[in-house]
Amino acid sequence: MSEVALLQLIGLTVVGCGILILLFITSKFLRVVGFVVIVLGTFTLIALGVPQMPSLPPAIETFDIAKVKTPDDLASIGQKIFFSKGQCALCHSIGPSESARCPDLKGIGAKLAPEFIYESLTEPQAYIYLDFRHEGLPKEYPARMPHINKNPIALSKQEIYSVIAFLQKMSGEPISVKVEDVLGVGEEGDVKVASVHGAY
Ligand code: HEC
Repeated sequence: MSEVALLQLIGLTVVGCGILILLFITSKFLRVVGFVVIVLGTFTLIALGVPQMPSLPPAIETFDIAKVKTPDDLASIGQKIFFSKGQCALCHSIGPSESARCPDLKGIGAKLAPEFIYESLTEPQAYIYLDFRHEGLPKEYPARMPHINKNPIALSKQEIYSVIAFLQKMSGEPISVKVEDVLGVGEEGDVKVASVHGAY
């Protein structure tokens, strides 16, 4: 019997005793006790009836390096990183968005060379892309592009290359990131290509 079921059984017994007291006992004091017991027992039963939701940290998904065979495999890992661990989607939209505080990344893989994207991610201050979406002089975006290879996001090189593969793929470009190159940049003993948090 599960813990909850056991507690429910105890609750029911307590309520049952309360009802018996009310039915068969005339002493005023005991009747008050019986009433209190019924009320408390009922509340306990209601509380136990509420579904229990364990709050677990999000599952971490890892990708085995051996399973990455094609540039498309890289791009699909990159897509997951883009929307989870990389936090890109917190700031960037893919396609125009009214609320976007940061550049729209639609077509970025076609607009920028992979080396330039790499630099945009790891040395964001080297070239600041300005906001041209309004009249007059372009302004800086209100947000700052973080160093993607440093804390708190801290993507590995392999993860960054996977994201670039995804940006190229979703821009309709041939993926120029080569699987062999990406596998080559892993640190000694690095068995995974990327780890991302499960669905948010
Ligand atoms: C905190 C918000 C924020 C996050 C998170 C973020 N960016 Fe950015 N990003 C910006 C801002 C602001 C700019 C424009 C200023 C600049 O170029 O530094 C930018 C610029 C860029 C550019 C250059 C755009 C251009 O046209 O030159 C690329 C590419 C880019 N981000 C990709 C990414 C990717 C990929 C991720 C996730 C791994 C990411 N960003 C995460 C805010 C963010």
